Amino acid sequence: MLPQSTLSSALVAAIMITLPANAAPQLMPKRSAVELSLPAQLRLADTAVDRYQLLPKDEDFIFDFNKAEIPFANRKTFPALTGYGTSMSVSALPACSMSFLHLHPRATELFALTSGHVVTDMVPEGNVTDSNGKQRVITTELYAGMMTLFPAGSFHTQVNPDCVPANFSAALTAEDFGISMVADQTFSLPDDVVAATFGQSIAGEDIDRVRDAIPGATLIRVEECLKKCNIQKRQV
Ligand SMILES: *[C@@H]1O[C@H](CO)[C@@H](O)[C@H](O)[C@H]1NC(C)=O
Ligand SMILES: *[C@@H]1O[C@H](CO)[C@@H](O)[C@H](O)[C@H]1NC(C)=O
Repeated sequence: MLPQSTLSSALVAAIMITLPANAAPQLMPKRSAVELSLPAQLRLADTAVDRYQLLPKDEDFIFDFNKAEIPFANRKTFPALTGYGTSMSVSALPACSMSFLHLHPRATELFALTSGHVVTDMVPEGNVTDSNGKQRVITTELYAGMMTLFPAGSFHTQVNPDCVPANFSAALTAEDFGISMVADQTFSLPDDVVAATFGQSIAGEDIDRVRDAIPGATLIRVEECLKKCNIQKRQV
């Protein structure tokens, strides 16, 4: 058994060692509250009323799609929408272009056309079949004033087959909707997994060939349409 004095000095030493660590969290909130981003502060606000103090200017409630670097109003680019579970995109699909096959992991998208013409294809979740028992693919043809929806997680793509841009507004049911590129991400898997996934119909160098051929871009140009419209192919 340790003598009493040794025990108490050990205790003192233990307190000495733990004290700075205990003291640190008391200082942390003050320092880190300032370092937190505005969306983070909004998320931590004690009440919805308190949140308004973090957005004192009326301009805090405006997002200008005309000036925005990226045409997405989400929690990061438009902090005022933090906590409301929505986000928005207002943009144009250029003439003769197609958005690469993608999905939003956390949001259903309402896609409304305000001008032009767009054809959409959407693959719902597994087990949604057509009358032949095959995976159902839902195709829509939209003109100004028409809308479709892409449920969260559904693969989808939009094609503008015309010679003029198609303007659209898209509302999403999450502040941070996220985007996954179906082909890109599938081919990021190891070769043997890709080969097995495609029933060994593709192997070895062919996998790399396909991998390299996948455009990294979110938008691709539709060749036939470019010819029809006499538009030069350029990077979009
Ligand atoms: C989905 O389809 C598979 C294969 O046809 C079947 O075994 C499964 O029961 C289906 N699941 C549901 C939820 O319908
Ligand atoms: C499409 O949007 C752009 C940018 O906001 C605008 O200048 C243009 O007039 C719109 N086109 C049509 C046909 O509404």
